[in-house]
Amino acid sequence: MRLWKSAIMAGAAVMIALSSAYAADVKIGFIVKQPEEPWFQDEWKFAEVAAKEKGFTLVKIGAEDGEKLQSAIDNLGAQGAQGFIVCTPDVKLGPGIVAKAEANGLKVMTVDDRLVDADGKPLEAVPHMGISATKIGEAVGEAIAAEIKKRGWDPKTVGAIRVSYDQLPTAVDRVDGAIAALKAAGFPAENIFDAPQAKTDTEAALNAATVVLNKHADIKNWVAFGLNDEAVLGAVRATESVGIPAANVIGVGIGGAESAINEFKKADATGFVGTVIISPKRHGYETALNMYDWIANDKAPPALTLTAGQLALRDNYEAVRKDLGIE
Ligand code: GLA
Repeated sequence: MRLWKSAIMAGAAVMIALSSAYAADVKIGFIVKQPEEPWFQDEWKFAEVAAKEKGFTLVKIGAEDGEKLQSAIDNLGAQGAQGFIVCTPDVKLGPGIVAKAEANGLKVMTVDDRLVDADGKPLEAVPHMGISATKIGEAVGEAIAAEIKKRGWDPKTVGAIRVSYDQLPTAVDRVDGAIAALKAAGFPAENIFDAPQAKTDTEAALNAATVVLNKHADIKNWVAFGLNDEAVLGAVRATESVGIPAANVIGVGIGGAESAINEFKKADATGFVGTVIISPKRHGYETALNMYDWIANDKAPPALTLTAGQLALRDNYEAVRKDLGIE
């Protein structure tokens, strides 16, 4: 009897040792399109937390274009990784990314930007975590409409800058959501001007918004919305550079990472009045855990997870962050 018992215990010990040895062998890539953006830095930070918890190795890679992405995937394969999470620089690379992953024997799941096929349809077989883009866009539009009302502006005299990046479906959904809410609040559609950005960073948004402002120099009051905080910050910087005072500008972003918080901390209020805070913790930590479970326990991630956002304004962002458990 005692012999049996110790044999079982020894077996269990071997199993535990085996499974932790296995965890140590798990290597997961986390590839992002814009490594310098605070949102992606935060995603990496939270993915690292999952790696420490489970004891796997996280390989963080920045891939700003398709070529870098292709070699990043090959690299992960050569390093003996088993899977990766990716926010691609171009969603149209979808089928190519899937093929590369397969060729390297890697599991793949996407975060933030969902892959599409040649017809622009989402690749539903690839597990994805993104934000509820339309709803969050609506929250942006509602916040802008409320601020227009508060300032007593006549919407007919206000210009709106739609900082756009139409090759990215989530960007389209976000700005469409904002426009729907603005229209519902009585904002005239003909006062909305498109500012297409070449890249999804602040500088590209600044350049795009400047063109709109110069074209409509007669408009005194402006609102701005776009894909993320960087887009809206670019538009706000553009209004400043052409000499429009902050009191005449309402910008509401999406993100709530460092770039937005730094803006709120400025002693003088700028035209960047709010942001819809989204969760890099869910996008970084949960996707990394999902991938780990898939590799180590053969449990595939949910096909589609859409995360929520919470509006924060300059004067209540600290309370909202506290409420959301962000330190
Ligand atoms: C896109 C944007 C990022 C961020 C994420 C959130 O990838 O480019 O700035 O908003 O979506 O999912």
